[in-house]
Amino acid sequence: MRVTINQIKEMKQKGEKIAMLTAYDYPTARIIDEAGIPLILVGDSLGMVVLGYESTIPVTMEEMLHHTRAVVRGSKRSLVVGDMPFMTYHVSTEDALRNAARFIQEAGAQAVKLEGGATVAERVRQIVACGIPVMGHIGLTPQSINQLGGYKIQGKTPEAAARMLADAVALEEAGAFAIVLETVPAPLAALITRKVSIPTIGIGAGVDCDGQVQVVNDILGSRTDFVPKHAKQYARLDSIMSTAVSEYLNEVKTGKFPTAAQSFPIDKSILAELDG
Ligand code: KIV
Repeated sequence: MRVTINQIKEMKQKGEKIAMLTAYDYPTARIIDEAGIPLILVGDSLGMVVLGYESTIPVTMEEMLHHTRAVVRGSKRSLVVGDMPFMTYHVSTEDALRNAARFIQEAGAQAVKLEGGATVAERVRQIVACGIPVMGHIGLTPQSINQLGGYKIQGKTPEAAARMLADAVALEEAGAFAIVLETVPAPLAALITRKVSIPTIGIGAGVDCDGQVQVVNDILGSRTDFVPKHAKQYARLDSIMSTAVSEYLNEVKTGKFPTAAQSFPIDKSILAELDG
């Protein structure tokens, strides 16, 4: 039985911290699920950390569904959230509902996430009304990177801070079950967390959020080109992987790999007969 949105909401009431990680493939989802992480986000960060795009903007529904299916297959207990890509929930209500439904019906996710506050609150309400749980996402919203002018901290002016609080309240009123707060000053994230009854999940938003989300490649140290300030590397998979690949290269070249242990025998008489 998978974790439910009610259990996630209850965690806030009980003061239990909520851990969420991204995953994009079957083996990683298995590890995260077996570790007991209650929420897995198939983030559109997929585009940047797995597919090599410069931003999340080129990510398509088909790419998201493909990776969400793999994560769903790799998990048994975690609640899987599919991230709705750029412009898949803006053009029309019909579009938003159809795309949200594809995550649930075709990919097997239990919820969707979309970026934006008051401006998308009506869409959130409509998706929730169809029985699809929605996670909000405010603060730094990477799909609006061209509008924001860079990956900068958000909510620093009195107006921006007030707007962010209003966005969080609008999402709560629209029926979102949780809200991601990305790259927000920690004291502002703490205030928003106190003002809404649904869990806030921070990324670069300080320790007082109800939970934390990280990109799995960042915490494992397998993303070598860029390490965000908000990420802590709990491992350095990049160096482990590059040492292993170099050793393999060397052993293939020198004939040390494969050994008998990695090879398969055949009855000698068969070979003798073939050899004449
Ligand atoms: O796409 C993503 O991985 C995200 C998280 C960073 C919250 O939106």
